[in-house]
Amino acid sequence: MILCLVVAARCCPVFSVEWTASVQKQLEGILSSCVVVPCSFTHPGGELPTSKLRAIWHRSDRHKENIYHEDHTKILDSFKGRTKMLGTLGQGNCTLEIIELKDHDGGRFCFRIELVKTPQDPPTKEMFSFVEDCVDLKIIHDQPKLELHQPKAAVQGKVYTITCSVHHTCPSRKPKLSWNRGNADASVIQTNMNYGNWRTESILTFIPEEKDDHTHLTCKAMFDGGLTVSENITLFVKRKENFNHIIIPVTVAAGTAMLFGLVCIFMVKKYK
Ligand SMILES: *[C@@H]1O[C@H](CO)[C@@H](O)[C@H](O)[C@H]1NC(C)=O
Repeated sequence: MILCLVVAARCCPVFSVEWTASVQKQLEGILSSCVVVPCSFTHPGGELPTSKLRAIWHRSDRHKENIYHEDHTKILDSFKGRTKMLGTLGQGNCTLEIIELKDHDGGRFCFRIELVKTPQDPPTKEMFSFVEDCVDLKIIHDQPKLELHQPKAAVQGKVYTITCSVHHTCPSRKPKLSWNRGNADASVIQTNMNYGNWRTESILTFIPEEKDDHTHLTCKAMFDGGLTVSENITLFVKRKENFNHIIIPVTVAAGTAMLFGLVCIFMVKKYK
């Protein structure tokens, strides 16, 4: 029976008295843009109201250096006004947003959850419970690359599509993609690539005309914070009617050869 209890306590979370937190371990952010750090936690006694919880994000080596705190006076000057809790604590969501990323924002940051004590609360042990989990944030200085992809070559008068995509880590303030032909015929797709990584993709659809041949097609991405990058290709439009210069001579040649063959057969028969 003791063995059964031990096994039950080990396998079933119901028996656990620990808080657990799960923070994305590694994440890259684009300099001057923003980053969203996925984070969640569970409380042994089930969900608690947001008012009872206090979330703190701080530098991993210096516990007093908060980059996020609900009391703004307790946030490092260099991070003031740039960090925001996106998740609802009452739902176990501690997702953090950092905007206007700077060089010195790289490093290891830890999340801590605490129960807020009020004088009316009975003094229980649980009040002092907290849990800590950290993310390694790397700031990317290189300009992000856009990828242009055309599944099929452009043919005059036929529907043509081209996609422009970019990877980022800021789903709350996504990069805006635009085309030099206008965006009326473009649709945007956001894809969660997991582990805090996202892809924003714009699919442009139009019917190429003769005048589009040898023109530039440009896709531009504007990131939150103002960084803009672009990528372009030259459009080559295949003419659709121009197989006649092949079809006509081939047909004529085949017809002539057939006629010549028939004449030969006729002659051979006649001489026999
Ligand atoms: C946590 O909150 C963020 C921001 O609102 C949201 O995008 C995300 O889906 C939430 N995560 C979960 C697990 O609900």
